[in-house]
Amino acid sequence: MGIFSNMRKPKGKLGNIQLKSMNKEHTPLALWNLKHLDIKPDDIVLDVGCGGGININRMAEKAKKVYGVDYSIESVKLSREVNRDLIGQGKVEVLEGDVQSLPFEDNTFDIITAFETVYFWPNIEKSFGEVKRVLKTGGTFMMGMESNGSDNIPMKISKKLIDMEVYSDDELTGFLKANDYSNITVYLRDAKNREEIIKANGEVKRIKDDYDHASFSDKFLEWMTITAEK
Ligand SMILES: C[S@@+](CC[C@H](N)C(=O)[O-])C[C@H]1O[C@@H](n2cnc3c(N)ncnc32)[C@H](O)[C@@H]1O
Repeated sequence: MGIFSNMRKPKGKLGNIQLKSMNKEHTPLALWNLKHLDIKPDDIVLDVGCGGGININRMAEKAKKVYGVDYSIESVKLSREVNRDLIGQGKVEVLEGDVQSLPFEDNTFDIITAFETVYFWPNIEKSFGEVKRVLKTGGTFMMGMESNGSDNIPMKISKKLIDMEVYSDDELTGFLKANDYSNITVYLRDAKNREEIIKANGEVKRIKDDYDHASFSDKFLEWMTITAEK
């Protein structure tokens, strides 16, 4: 198990350090992903592959209740620590579980999020089906990642170091369609031109993206957000 491949399922002390670092380093991307999600005060939210738990914390500011689930016990522990007060207030719960078999009833959540985790999911098509099972009808599934499938240099390096799969927006859209999700919208950040490309209903739009990019390395990463409805 190398330093980088530990990110697939963080373990031990090293896993704890990596998760804390991801809580910080993924912040610019996560806030950009969250820009595309309308969280309402009555919403029950699930964050799959919740890692260090900071996104649970962010979403709990807006939602009625936020659940986190992760198959790494190290992630579950840190997410519980980061959200200790909200857990005490009954606003957050964090469970150990795999996306292939989520520990929830059918039709439970208004919103399900997946930040920087889809690369690691086995059998994506089946996993998206499992997400749909626990999503309410009309609910939204949102995934965010710092790649748009293009085989650029940072991604070539990441794929070599980290045991991960990088999908294009077309591939992910295909897996969503295979599960009969509707209203699929893809948001791609064109960092070079400071634009956002929005793909929806067979149309492609470009808008100005004046999002303030916080870190140097983010300038080279191709961010993507995809939202889809059950
Ligand atoms: C790169 S980390 C991202 C963590 C966090 N979402 C973030 O944005 O910082 C990937 C997380 O997904 C979790 N994960 C990977 N495969 C999973 C699966 N099959 N089921 C549940 N969690 C999974 C890992 O344990 C890890 O905590």
